[in-house]
Amino acid sequence: AALATGGTALTAARAARAAAQTPLDQSFPKDFLWGTATAAYQIEGAVNEDGRGQTNWDVFSHTPGKVANGDTGDVACDSYHRYKDDIALMRNLGIKAYRMSLAWSRIFPEGRGKPNAKGLDYYNRVIDALLEAGIQPNVTMFHWDLPQALPGGWQNRDTAKAFADYAGFMAGKLSDRVHRFMTVNELRCFTDLGHMVGIHAPGLKLAPAQVNQVRHHGVLAHGLGVQAIRANAKAGTEVGIADNANIYVPAIETPEHIEAAKKAFRDDNAMFLTAVMEGRYIDSYLASAGANAPKVQAGDMAAIGSPLDFVALNIYTPTFVKADASDPRGYTPLPHLPQSPRMASPWLYVGPEAAYWGVRAVSELWKPKAIYISENGTSADDTLNKSGLVDDSDRIMYLRNYLGQFRRAAAEGYPLKGYFLWSLMDNFEWADGYGKRFGIHHVDFATQKRTPKLSALWYKELIRRNALV
Ligand code: NOJ
Repeated sequence: AALATGGTALTAARAARAAAQTPLDQSFPKDFLWGTATAAYQIEGAVNEDGRGQTNWDVFSHTPGKVANGDTGDVACDSYHRYKDDIALMRNLGIKAYRMSLAWSRIFPEGRGKPNAKGLDYYNRVIDALLEAGIQPNVTMFHWDLPQALPGGWQNRDTAKAFADYAGFMAGKLSDRVHRFMTVNELRCFTDLGHMVGIHAPGLKLAPAQVNQVRHHGVLAHGLGVQAIRANAKAGTEVGIADNANIYVPAIETPEHIEAAKKAFRDDNAMFLTAVMEGRYIDSYLASAGANAPKVQAGDMAAIGSPLDFVALNIYTPTFVKADASDPRGYTPLPHLPQSPRMASPWLYVGPEAAYWGVRAVSELWKPKAIYISENGTSADDTLNKSGLVDDSDRIMYLRNYLGQFRRAAAEGYPLKGYFLWSLMDNFEWADGYGKRFGIHHVDFATQKRTPKLSALWYKELIRRNALV
């Protein structure tokens, strides 16, 4: 009897405690923009159709040894023909927005010159179908597929001008229906991976001075692109960039380490997002580049620093950092450890805190009006279960943790307005070919059948509640 009484008292105490507590608020801000993301070369296929011009990635993927398994984007997800199926997947998820990119060489097969009406027709069809499904198109102008005909590619300053002409032209054609444009995707990848590391198109390993020049042409393309879009788009069109700034997470959440993370973020992104947001190359970058600093012409920096309506971030992975008085910079980035958790891509270290600290660093350093997450997601070694479905609990784990940190950023008042999950479906993962799957829909590349993974059902429920699940 004594035991029973004790038990009841305990239950009552617990119930009282629970009642006194505010339930953990897991909700996202009202009108938060939920979406998914893809990019042209990774999904469209149809590389020789309707007058599309050749790109750097066509050449690179057809060069033996450059892409895993000899994969190419020739067919990819065949979205060029199946875009209606893809829109049906999105509609079923209940997303409000779709981030897609335009293939520059469908519009200008030679990179410049006379536009190709059939290429434009294709994007008109896709955009009209999205709007009909109640999904808002968010358009990236350049997601790495560069018209091969442009002499010298990104090593040539004229490419930045050609990009601006193309971006301005497309803004003029689409801004009656598209209200948000992103100039370029991931500055660091199409410059450094392509021209320094050599694992992306065009596969070069240039000297430091040339690499810095390519980087300069990349940010210049963005800046001239912003100006051209504004000159040609309807009033009220929003223009920004989708960048993958390296993100620093304070090892310990105390003022000194937080300050260290902020400084490391600004320094390490000096030739990319920092230049874009500040319209100059900061002293620490110029000092470290020395004689290899980029050659800058009059007016370049003002163009590069053109005011933006929003900043969009692709966030995947963290670098932890600590304050360190013995380092001249005042901080030391911490290396990943052999046992640091990773997802299926070797570079994809897990660190959900990157979601929060990425948003916070950009907000505190530059106070943009709005921040979007233009990409976040993960590869996973997906396998089909007995019923032919994918139970990707690892992807759900990853997404839930990152979204929890995005939620924290929004709840603390940072201007985070939306989130585009990478990716709507499995697709051509660049140098990894089709071997790394990032989709929340499984694609059988032999039949082109799309099947929702468990993560798609999870994302749908999250969107329905507008809260973490
Ligand atoms: C970044 C790129 O923008 C996208 O094209 C790529 O597939 C994902 N991250 C995953 O690596």
